Amino acid sequence: MEINVIMNDLHRCGYFNETADPCGSSLSSETDPIDPKLLIQMIQNQWLGKKVCCLRSVSSTNDILEKLGEQGVPHGTVVTADYQSAGRGRAGRSWSAPSGSGLLFSYLIRPEIEAKEIPLITLAAAVGTARGLEKATGIRPGIKWPNDIIFEGRKVAGILAEARFEHSHPKAVVVGVGINMHLQTHEWPAELTNKAISVFQITGVFFKRQEVLQAVCEENEREIERLIQGDPQIVLNNWLAYSATIGQVVDVVLPNEVFRATACALNQDGGLIVQDEFGVQRTIYMGDISLRHVNRGCTGD
Ligand code: BTN
Repeated sequence: MEINVIMNDLHRCGYFNETADPCGSSLSSETDPIDPKLLIQMIQNQWLGKKVCCLRSVSSTNDILEKLGEQGVPHGTVVTADYQSAGRGRAGRSWSAPSGSGLLFSYLIRPEIEAKEIPLITLAAAVGTARGLEKATGIRPGIKWPNDIIFEGRKVAGILAEARFEHSHPKAVVVGVGINMHLQTHEWPAELTNKAISVFQITGVFFKRQEVLQAVCEENEREIERLIQGDPQIVLNNWLAYSATIGQVVDVVLPNEVFRATACALNQDGGLIVQDEFGVQRTIYMGDISLRHVNRGCTGD
């Protein structure tokens, strides 16, 4: 139902007509609006953010874009929302934020890559988001493997990349980004006050979502393009430059197992090489880690 309404709207405002303005006027919040036309005009990109749709309330921008992807929207299409009623995070978690308090958006890419390279998209998006945030706000965030953007141990942004496969090849990947922008300390639910933080709490400044979106999209294109051009090593090096993970003691949380380890390095596929308490090295591709805030070296360092 929701997608039909959005598709009609997109057709009405000429989204699928190259010569018309995409999405007409912004449907986004009045206090901190995101104007798709302005974004398209200002963004210094070749493909990411050249088709933009800004909506008030959706289930999840990832869901909307996945469905738009099936309808054939092009590589680089962006959907933003002020509010998500069913925002999703990694590992089946939910992602919720009061309307207009966050920068919530997804972009769709149609990369010609192998399935095993998908984790690299996640890392590239993390670098692009961390660097875009730094460029727009001056914050220097860190990345907790694989793609949590953190500041002083608290999460300021999260990324959820979801791929659709055809004959075991990734046909399209939707990358969803949620950035905590404006929430103040007293506005967080109690269980998140020590775990999450907003750009406003860090800087004391009400940065405009439009400007942050532009910078984050520019930096995401830059990093994703490196993968498309077959240059993953630069993405890995850039990720390491923002790493808040390597050298840290972590709890590794896998579907059937939790163990303490030291994060040692990234491998070429974006997997995290850890050394457990018995000195055994393992590489993790899925799952989560939590930081114990203790530095330790790995054998061979
Ligand atoms: C995580 O840290 O677990 C990932 C969070 C990703 C949240 C964003 S908000 C925009 C997009 N739509 C979603 O439903 N999720 C992502």
